[in-house]
Amino acid sequence: MDMQTFQSEWQTKRAKIDRYLQSDLKREECYYSTVYKAMNYSVQSGGKRIRPVLLMACYELFSDNTEETLPFCAAMEYIHTYSLIHDDLPCMDDDELRRGNPTCHVKFGEAMAVLAGDALLNRAYEKIFSSSHPRAMKAGEIISFYAGSEGMIGGQVIDMESEGKEISAEKLEKLQELKTSALLSASCGAGAVLGGADEKETAHLREFGKLLGLAFQIQDDILDVTSTSSELGKPVGSDEKNHKTTYVSLFGLEKCQNLNQQLTEQAIKSLDLFKERADFLKELALWLLNRKK
Ligand code: IPE
Ligand code: IPE
Ligand code: MG
Ligand code: MG
Ligand code: MG
Repeated sequence: MDMQTFQSEWQTKRAKIDRYLQSDLKREECYYSTVYKAMNYSVQSGGKRIRPVLLMACYELFSDNTEETLPFCAAMEYIHTYSLIHDDLPCMDDDELRRGNPTCHVKFGEAMAVLAGDALLNRAYEKIFSSSHPRAMKAGEIISFYAGSEGMIGGQVIDMESEGKEISAEKLEKLQELKTSALLSASCGAGAVLGGADEKETAHLREFGKLLGLAFQIQDDILDVTSTSSELGKPVGSDEKNHKTTYVSLFGLEKCQNLNQQLTEQAIKSLDLFKERADFLKELALWLLNRKK
């Protein structure tokens, strides 16, 4: 697949997801409309939508009724956005810029940012429970596992408890696998299950998500050192400020670039059994390897 075909397929998927997200969260006035303003503010501020695009693309390896993935795509983006809102709070990374805008707590205050995050997480499960897809519960089980203490939250726990400490490469890999790979694996696994993949196919796609996530977080750590906040849409130097151990702090930039390349190649290799059907996912991995934001 050439870059142009990839880009246009990416835009098509993104547009479907964005249209759905725009219409899903309440906008009318009510006594508690502030929480919706905060939720919409963070969801609509222009993330890359990688997790829902992954879910959709994995589903499309097996099935073509793409519309039925949209509630699950929204669920993944809500969980991801909630994780970012909480990640930016003063008690966590204490950052003031996200997706090119002031962070949710800077704009709405800490209490409302906590509540908006909580509400997005709940809305995610409401989307899953209200789906009539025959495998909605299985997809929901995968998503809740990877979003919880055995997944993203577990990773954030290691991340917070490791601030200011030297940690081993093994512990760092576990940290990255949980805090970042988990939601990517969840997207791939849920998309596969919804599309009708068998267990082996689902396992391969979860592995793809894991390897892609490790590369993705290394690139995030690289950009935290090498980018500018105007290009990145979030502060640079956040990791150093918070005395985090990252792949960059442990191994240096050059080694990280090699590692990122290797992990991306392994991720692409894990798609071999899908042959050319997985071309979009392979291009996506290569595109993420060289991403600038
Ligand atoms: C940022 O994720 C948090 C990490 C896990 C590195 P993204 O880079 O996908 O953030 P958005 O959604 O595009 O803002
Ligand atoms: C965050 O990792 C991962 C999450 C689960 C939110 P980072 O703290 O490095 O993400 P950014 O750099 O703030 O987006
Ligand atoms: Mg963090
Ligand atoms: Mg952060
Ligand atoms: Mg970061």
